[in-house]
Amino acid sequence: MKHFLIFTIATLLNQTTIASSPEPNSRYYIIPLKNLKISSRIIPRALETFKDLSLVKMQPSDVSKLSALLHKELNICGGYIDVTDEFLSSKTDMKSFISRQLNVVTPNFDKTTPNRAVEVNSTISKLDRTRFWDFLQLFTSFSDRSALTQEGVKAANWLGEHALKIAKDHSRSDITVRYFKTGGTYIQPSTVVKIPGNNSSLPAVVIGAHMDTFSKDKPGTDDDGTGVATVMETFQAVLESGLKFERDIYFAFYAAEERGLVGSGVVAKTMVSEGLKIRGVVQFDMTGFKSPKDAYKIYLIEDNVDPVLTAFLKTLIVNYVGIPANQIGTDKCTYACSDHAQWQRNGVPAALPFEASLANDNKAIHTANDKINLLDIEHALPFVKLSIAFVVEAAEPL
Ligand code: BES
Ligand code: ZN
Repeated sequence: MKHFLIFTIATLLNQTTIASSPEPNSRYYIIPLKNLKISSRIIPRALETFKDLSLVKMQPSDVSKLSALLHKELNICGGYIDVTDEFLSSKTDMKSFISRQLNVVTPNFDKTTPNRAVEVNSTISKLDRTRFWDFLQLFTSFSDRSALTQEGVKAANWLGEHALKIAKDHSRSDITVRYFKTGGTYIQPSTVVKIPGNNSSLPAVVIGAHMDTFSKDKPGTDDDGTGVATVMETFQAVLESGLKFERDIYFAFYAAEERGLVGSGVVAKTMVSEGLKIRGVVQFDMTGFKSPKDAYKIYLIEDNVDPVLTAFLKTLIVNYVGIPANQIGTDKCTYACSDHAQWQRNGVPAALPFEASLANDNKAIHTANDKINLLDIEHALPFVKLSIAFVVEAAEPL
């Protein structure tokens, strides 16, 4: 494989004219290119390489040509960065200079976007809309799911039992459930379901939603029954696909989000402090309400999130959900509005795809009216597809 890659890059570069240009306009770039030792014979002015990165000097137009070529042929996304000013004022040697750029230009999801079309599409075909909507109705029939009540505890246990039942139906005795005590006056635990991967030393994949409701007598159907149903349907579709994965996958149902992100705080802190490495976390919190005033179908929240993971989700939406880029909006919560923020605080990349612009969101949340009659299954299903696409792409099917 390695040799094949070297050969391919060398061949591609041979076929492309990367013009050697007059000195004055040349700039310095870091390029995320493996095996440059071989290809540097072809790229003019490759100065140094370190790990997957190379420092090159070339015309701006040549770098974009190179990037377009790599994207097309090798599925490597952009990722080059102009370091001219930094490099010229840098006092370190070239290798150390490049090593300092490692985290900046080799994002977590860069080179995998999207390359599991067969597995993603076959898993999306297992999505069962009736099962998804029935689950939402069943789950929101607890009289409440407050972090302070016995009903809230019942909901937490029921989620774990439900997942284990699905696991049993698929003869998956390797799947486990862990309950995380929330602490304080909160008797509701968080429920985390794990599908172990083939190589647990690789960074794991996490999706989540909060199970709790704001208080008693609140159905919390959109907030966040929809998120819980999204995560559970993803779990079920993944089991039905029969796929096995390289990485561990966690399906997290958090307690006490409405009390200040308490359950997710415990889950994130505990898992990180136990040494678990996590590739990315996607939070689903409110996916079922469609505002007639909104211009876009899905909104990607931009604050308290990881921008690279968020960009990756956008690519997944375009490629697998069938929503074009011009129908994907962005917005900001302006504060730590959901559990993704706890992962970010603990150094784990997280993202939050959302149902609406913040101005036009569901005004019935946190009231007794947060019911299914205000929701639209056609609006919610794309989020399930996105969730499936994320899990399957990120966890790497065997
Ligand atoms: N789902 C909401 C957050 C939300 C509401 C996001 C509307 C976007 C639009 C979440 O469950 C919630 O209510 N969060 C609290 C903050 C939390 C730290 C207690 C909130 O927004 O007040
Ligand atoms: Zn919520």
